[in-house]
Amino acid sequence: MENFTFYSPTYFVFGKGTENEAGQYVKKYGGHKVLIHYGGGSVKRSGLLDRVKASLDAAGIAHVELGGVQPNPKSTLVYEGIELARKENVDFLLPIGGGSVIDSAKAIAFGALYDGDFWDFYCGKQGTVTKALPVGAITTLAASGSESSTDSVVTYVAEDGKQYKRCADGDILRPVFAIMNPELLFTLPPYQTASGITDIISHCLERYFTKTPEVEITDRMLEAVMLTMLKEGKRVMDEPDNYAARANIMWAATVAMNGITGVGRAADWGTHHMENELSTSYGCSHGAGLAILTPAWMTYAMNIDVMRFAQFATRVCGCQMNFAHPEVTAKEGIEFMRSFFKSIGMPGSISEIGGKDEDLAGLAENMFHGAPNHGNFVKLTPQIAEEIYRLAL
Ligand code: NZQ
Ligand code: ZN
Repeated sequence: MENFTFYSPTYFVFGKGTENEAGQYVKKYGGHKVLIHYGGGSVKRSGLLDRVKASLDAAGIAHVELGGVQPNPKSTLVYEGIELARKENVDFLLPIGGGSVIDSAKAIAFGALYDGDFWDFYCGKQGTVTKALPVGAITTLAASGSESSTDSVVTYVAEDGKQYKRCADGDILRPVFAIMNPELLFTLPPYQTASGITDIISHCLERYFTKTPEVEITDRMLEAVMLTMLKEGKRVMDEPDNYAARANIMWAATVAMNGITGVGRAADWGTHHMENELSTSYGCSHGAGLAILTPAWMTYAMNIDVMRFAQFATRVCGCQMNFAHPEVTAKEGIEFMRSFFKSIGMPGSISEIGGKDEDLAGLAENMFHGAPNHGNFVKLTPQIAEEIYRLAL
């Protein structure tokens, strides 16, 4: 196991009705004037926004709001949010939504305190974020784990129309609290539920395929999360109002991404970086892009360490070990995952979301724009990325 530091300060408030406690938690963490941030309207339709505002009012917390965050959040609204936060002297960010809303709020939270362009922290001009207003997250989608992660993923819309989806990070970006009510997930469309399930599994796989030897504790934790997702993922697609299934998935999303399953081992993240280009170019959800790329990446990567892929296949996918030909077991594991993603309604190829062979070189080139290093288990180059995209076509 490699040396590591791990700091995970988020206070979790999990269960039914917990959104009604938002006001008291903002107060506890020092907020006086809150910027409520949300997406395209689901929080209005469900009545959640009104409940949260009532809770803030009851606690005597002033608030302003900014809605309209799009999935795969854009820099344009972040700039607007930074201006609003400064103008209104906001001292606390309260995103209500999925990963896109939380990530946009994180960007506003540090952008409001930074003299330069907030994008500096995404494009590599600046390193780790060290100064930000506190963020308290109210999660409505189990997927990104942003409610306790160090990351913020935002898409920059350049003047020439090109888009770059990149990540900024820092311990300071971990929300101070996360309010998580599994009942809030009941209204999710099946496509978003399935995208979330896929994203959670991918956060495990990005860590599971490592070159770091002898990391049994985190191997086993990752397997536990993935086994839970295979079981509860199927169940929730059939029974969207099943509280137990939603609760298990919601906590799995957090455990998969807050870092505890990744300590002391090198993670890959190549599939995620390749995915950024699919959601940016074709407008698919992050999870859908991952469902398309994961079997392709695994097919490319399996020969690097066949025994690790065979271990995954036997421990997670329930395949029988073929000791004479472990590569057969490894391939069975990959096919198992491909059919699992299909069974929950995820697309299986780039063509299905509108991509063409002639796009692939451009996708591979764009992901390296200002970001030269991708992948660890598989060190990606533009050529290798293009090859993997082609395997997913
Ligand atoms: O905008 P509204 O109307 O709220 O609708 C949203 C949106 O259209 C809808 N939705 C959310 N909760 C709902 C709901 N609809 C009905 N009922 C509810 N309870 O779902 C749609 C998708 O929302 P979004 O926030 O985009 O989804 P997700 O949570 O999957 O977040 C995806 C983003 O997170 C990033 C991704 O790259 C992507 O940009 N990630 C962030 C990470 C992090 N910060 O640590 C890690 C992840 O790897 C991921 O990359
Ligand atoms: Zn992800």
